[in-house]
Amino acid sequence: MITVRVPAKVNVQLGVGGLRADGYHDLANVFFAVALGDEVTATAATPGEGVTLSCSGPDAAAVPLDDSNLAARAARLLAAHHGLAAPDVRLHIAKAIPVAGGMAGGSADGAAALIACDALWGLRTPFETLLELAAELGSDVPFALVGGVALGRGRGEILEPLPVGGTFHWVFAVADGGLSTPAVFRECDRLRDEAGTGSTDTEVPTPDADPALLAALADGDAVALAAALANDLQQAALSLRPALADTLRAGTEAGAIGALVSGSGPTCAFLTKDADSAAAVAEALRASGACRTAHATYGPVAGAGIPA
Ligand code: C5P
Repeated sequence: MITVRVPAKVNVQLGVGGLRADGYHDLANVFFAVALGDEVTATAATPGEGVTLSCSGPDAAAVPLDDSNLAARAARLLAAHHGLAAPDVRLHIAKAIPVAGGMAGGSADGAAALIACDALWGLRTPFETLLELAAELGSDVPFALVGGVALGRGRGEILEPLPVGGTFHWVFAVADGGLSTPAVFRECDRLRDEAGTGSTDTEVPTPDADPALLAALADGDAVALAAALANDLQQAALSLRPALADTLRAGTEAGAIGALVSGSGPTCAFLTKDADSAAAVAEALRASGACRTAHATYGPVAGAGIPA
């Protein structure tokens, strides 16, 4: 039995370029791994049992347990890569990352399943190969393997680790229900067309990482990072879910120094000045009624791995 711990992510910068011919958008995506995470346990199954999934945690009912789950797809992809036609494994997901929340929880479980199955089956797959398999599973899966803070280019899968000068303290406000990532990207394109700027990759400039944001990360400077937080999908998420504006306001009024929608949402992320402030902001958000629940956490942390 192998248990792997895997972090959620928040995008401290999510620069979205135009729509490409392949349906993706070029990104300048600064991923940041936080301690809020899932655990995926792989247990040997009897031959012929196939890949089975179970899930625990307060939101377990919202997690699909069919073949759309990235953990199951990861197990099959890894097996196929090694020429194993019909793999057998029981995968259990202990779910803490908000489901369909913009924190790459499904991607995290895919990354964790790659590591867990690789260890359970004794495959010793090179990390570079795991990264390639992860990119096949989804744009956010490679980062869940790498962790820390990294700049993601292309559709987010081409990663460059970034230096970070300290620990940052975060609060995540979880909304009722999720948002579909493709729907939020589509809304971003629609808003750009409506504004007359165009939405294709020939019309929208390729985004780049913000030097002020990179300096804030390298310096461990929370106030400077708060000022540089930016998400090009935020307007689209707010357009689909206007109530998120109240959530962002509630966190800021409670003392957060920075606020943004996490990825494609609807989870809202708040940067705070220290751990005590994060606990107080989380408490105020839970009491405010502006979200379903709120979690205080910190980062950066390592990517998917077997805890020591
Ligand atoms: O790669 P992944 O399967 O996670 O992407 C889900 C969807 O999100 C894509 O089908 C696409 O609609 C959108 N997406 C995008 N540009 C990216 C990443 C994702 O448009 N860079």
